[in-house]
Amino acid sequence: MIDKIIEQTEEFVRNQLGEDSTGHDWFHVDRVRRNAIHISKAEQQGDPFIIEMAALLHDIPDEKLNYSEEAGKQKLESFMETIPLKDVEKNHIREIIFSISYKGGHGSKLSSVEAKIVQDADRLDAIGAIGIARAFAYGGKKGQSIYDPAIMVRETMSQEEYRRGKSTSIHHFYEKLLKLKDLLNTETAMQMAEPRQQMMQSFLEQFYREWNGQQS
Ligand code: ADP
Ligand code: NI
Repeated sequence: MIDKIIEQTEEFVRNQLGEDSTGHDWFHVDRVRRNAIHISKAEQQGDPFIIEMAALLHDIPDEKLNYSEEAGKQKLESFMETIPLKDVEKNHIREIIFSISYKGGHGSKLSSVEAKIVQDADRLDAIGAIGIARAFAYGGKKGQSIYDPAIMVRETMSQEEYRRGKSTSIHHFYEKLLKLKDLLNTETAMQMAEPRQQMMQSFLEQFYREWNGQQS
C-alpha cells in the first residue's frame, strides 16, 4: 500500500518536473528524497513514509514553477485528492512542504522533526558541487551574469539596488549558499555539509584566481 503510494507520487512528480531546467528537476527531487531518508536513518528520527512523501512533493507548489502561488497550491491539492491517506497524514505532508522553503521557513521554528530533515536534505542539494552546478544553471536560465565585480553583495546594497535585484550567480554564494551550512537542523546534515562547504570555498578561490588572470 505504502509502496504503491510512493510509486504513484514518483510518477506524478516526474511528469510535473521532468522538463524543468532551473535546478528543480526530477533528479533534484530524487537526491533530496535519498538524502532525507539517509538523515532520518542516521538520526533514528522521523516517520520515513511522511519524510519520503514530503521530499518527493516539496517543489510541486513552488511559485517559480507555477503561474501563481495559488496555482501551485492547487496542483498539490489535486494530487493529494488522488492518494488514499488519512487527513492527519496529508496535513503533515502539506505542513512540511509549506514550512521548509527558505522564504517561508527562514528564521522560523519548524514544528516537526520530519520538516527539519526534509529542509536539511533540500539545503544540502543547494551546496557543494551540485549546488555550484545548480546556481549557474538557474542564473543562466534567468539571464543573470556569472559574475560582475562592480555589483555589491545584497547586504551592502541600497534599497533601490536591492529592489532592482541586480545580482550574479557568484553573488548568490554570499547571499545564500555559504550561509546554509549554519542553518541546518540535524547533526548528520551538518557533517554532510562539510565537504560541500569546502568544495564551494575552493571553487570560489580558484574562480577569482582565474578571473584575475593568474596562471595557476
Ligand atoms: P530551493 O530548492 O531550496 O527552494 P530555490 O528555489 O531558491 O531553492 O533555488 C533553486 C536552485 O537555484 C538552488 O540551487 C539555488 O541556489 C539556485 N538559485 C536560486 N536563486 C538563485 C540566484 N539568484 N542565482 C543563482 N542561483 C540561484
Ligand atoms: Ni528543492
